Amino acid sequence: MENLYQIKRICCVGAGYVGGPTMAVIADNCPEIEINVVDRNVERIKSWNSKDLSKLPVFEKGLSEIISRTRDKNLFFNTQIDFAIENADMIFISVNTPIKSIGLGAGQTSDLKWVESCARQISIKAKGHTIVVEKSTLPVRTAKTIKDILFASEDQLAVNNKKTFSVLSNPEFLAEGSAISDLEEPDRILIGGEDSKSIDTLAAIYCKWVPLEKIIKTNLWSSELSKLTSNAFLAQRISSINSISAICEASGADVYEVANAVGKDSRIGAKFLKPGPGFGGSCFKKDILNLVYLCNFFGLKEVANFWESIVNINQWQQDRIYKKIVESLFGNISGKKIAILGFAFKAGTNDTRESPAITISRNLLIEGAELAIHDPKVQSEQIASSLEYGYEIKESDSQDLITNERRWRFYKDIYKAAEDSHALIIITEWNEYRELDWEKISKKMYKPSWVFDTRGILDKSNIQKYGIKIWQLGDGSGND
Ligand code: NAD
Ligand code: UGA
Repeated sequence: MENLYQIKRICCVGAGYVGGPTMAVIADNCPEIEINVVDRNVERIKSWNSKDLSKLPVFEKGLSEIISRTRDKNLFFNTQIDFAIENADMIFISVNTPIKSIGLGAGQTSDLKWVESCARQISIKAKGHTIVVEKSTLPVRTAKTIKDILFASEDQLAVNNKKTFSVLSNPEFLAEGSAISDLEEPDRILIGGEDSKSIDTLAAIYCKWVPLEKIIKTNLWSSELSKLTSNAFLAQRISSINSISAICEASGADVYEVANAVGKDSRIGAKFLKPGPGFGGSCFKKDILNLVYLCNFFGLKEVANFWESIVNINQWQQDRIYKKIVESLFGNISGKKIAILGFAFKAGTNDTRESPAITISRNLLIEGAELAIHDPKVQSEQIASSLEYGYEIKESDSQDLITNERRWRFYKDIYKAAEDSHALIIITEWNEYRELDWEKISKKMYKPSWVFDTRGILDKSNIQKYGIKIWQLGDGSGND
């Protein structure tokens, strides 16, 4: 232990889906360390401090229990960013890194303005030796930008020897919906860096609950690239099986039977072979696009095209589902009520970022449908901002946009959402959708009534027996 820095206080900048749960688990396992999770979003911090634990900004199984054990003991959520930075021995940068919307690299690479502003704030406010940890997922060589900003301020004060920094990359691999178990029992902890004393100091924190053999130490660039590569590989499996789902529908095969047979090969494995409406979430698309950008930057055009095709298939999958719905409803959905069951990008989370529900819903709205949207965890305000944010307003169709906004409604009751609808689309695999009363639903829907099951979670025969037509992703049995 003698060759480690002493860590009494940690600051985490960014109280989002990663910062909040990650720091909660560290606080739970390291009661001797004081952790301040800071954010400039006042409302978010208020929610983290909410007495009613059902109002935490992030919904994750097991999170509220940890928060109730640690909050205001050694875990604090506040907006005093400067103060927390000044007093920290270690600072995690956990801010958002979405794809740039304007300027150079727009639509292709991450917008690093939040990371940069965070680094600048740290460079000004930090005192003594500070270990700065990249927790956000960042394009390869971002650590260089952070180091340049931090070390510039180090140089200015070198005479007084007031502040020094070391920069580590410690990407997060948690998945939403299983964040707490992923954090408590991770497959691996990856720490990239150049200064072994700082690497060992961070490793010692994780060692409080993670077996030593799961801690991987690499150089900075390998760590950054491993994170992008892990997400790209996972997303690639989904796009692969989704492409096969279309062949199944055309050929008479069943994608679940194919996925099961393929996944039984221990060299391939069964995980991430579930077909669906396309991957969503804030990271897969963003991280692959970053990889594509990097490949192009290094002149590796063929490699860039390979990875880009994973994102293209994902978009194609979402589009073909919406087209299937329109075709099945006689090519016309104008004025027809369609129920959307599930708006989160996957079950177990209230996050809607890049949810396939957004693209599918927008396309249905453009075709003139009226949507009845249900989700057990997503709030209607969140749906409103997902559907309307980033919506392209062209001068000529601004009227349409206004109508679109009014043409969807949020329902708390699934059966009311189904009332007078022509079709019902399962987009998120929530458990409550597996156990619906189809007899009751069949009496409420227009005839012919359609169900589109994009997650393959429904029992087809149980639906057909009430006279409802059903389309299931990757089910080619209709070809027999
Ligand atoms: P998020 O949007 O939920 O949270 C980021 C927070 O940072 C926001 O609350 C924002 O207000 C705050 N913030 C931004 N700039 C700030 C600044 N200068 N000072 C103070 N606060 C600031 O994002 P997230 O989902 O937690 O993702 C964070 C990073 O982690 C991203 O790089 C993402 O790619 C990566 N990641 C996310 C997940 C996931 O499941 N969501 C998993 C692994 C890695
Ligand atoms: C993913 C990775 O799994 C995490 O390891 C990573 O840390 C995280 O991205 C990140 O960097 O943000 P997450 O997006 O939260 O986690 O959730 P996943 O379980 O990976 O699901 C992503 C999307 O793929 C969802 O829309 C899900 O429905 C879809 N999916 C997943 C499938 O369609 N099929 C599958 O077999 C698995």
